[in-house]
Amino acid sequence: MDLMDAIKGRRSIRRYKATPVPDDLLREVLTAARHAPSADNAQPWRILVIRDEDTKRKLVAAANGQKFIAQAPVVLVICGIPDEAFPTVGGYMSSHVIDASIAIDHLTLMAHAVGLGTCWIAWFKEDNVREVLSIPEDVRVIAMTPLGYPDEIPERIPRKNLEDLVIYDRYQ
Ligand SMILES: Cc1cc2nc3c(=O)[nH]c(=O)nc-3n(C[C@H](O)[C@H](O)[C@H](O)COP(=O)(O)O)c2cc1C
Repeated sequence: MDLMDAIKGRRSIRRYKATPVPDDLLREVLTAARHAPSADNAQPWRILVIRDEDTKRKLVAAANGQKFIAQAPVVLVICGIPDEAFPTVGGYMSSHVIDASIAIDHLTLMAHAVGLGTCWIAWFKEDNVREVLSIPEDVRVIAMTPLGYPDEIPERIPRKNLEDLVIYDRYQ
């Protein structure tokens, strides 16, 4: 699939078929994340692959009852590790959220390219996710996504015009 087609065609999928995700496709999606850039190439992130039904249900509860998350056969939970990250991006912030987010973007695009759906989920209670998955205190939960075959083709959600997003030469 052409890169721009993948970028423009990806949608947040909130209905999934029960069809299992083949292991080779799961690996391809995870491999796309592996190739993401990161500050100082620190790769300060981990992805938890959740397939257990009971654990998925607990993640739904931790994500404020967003039921469709557990409809997908796989849920990926992406964590950032501040202690491994570049500490001063721009002189003021840790890179772990940025680095993990790029990895997520890579995997969501690859998922779409191989016919799978995803949906960024960042509306969750971190402590609850941490408890469900035994995530240590020094690891942050950045986002999760269901992963499975889409059971819907959502309309494209509009974006701002390029002219409203891009500034040439000086901010003001
Ligand atoms: C950081 C982030 C957090 C999000 N959290 C949620 C969420 O908790 N639940 C949800 O249904 N969608 C969530 N979304 C999906 C957005 O609503 C969606 O990307 C946006 O409306 C554009 O739609 P599209 O992804 O289909 O292009 C999130 C997206 C991002 C990038």
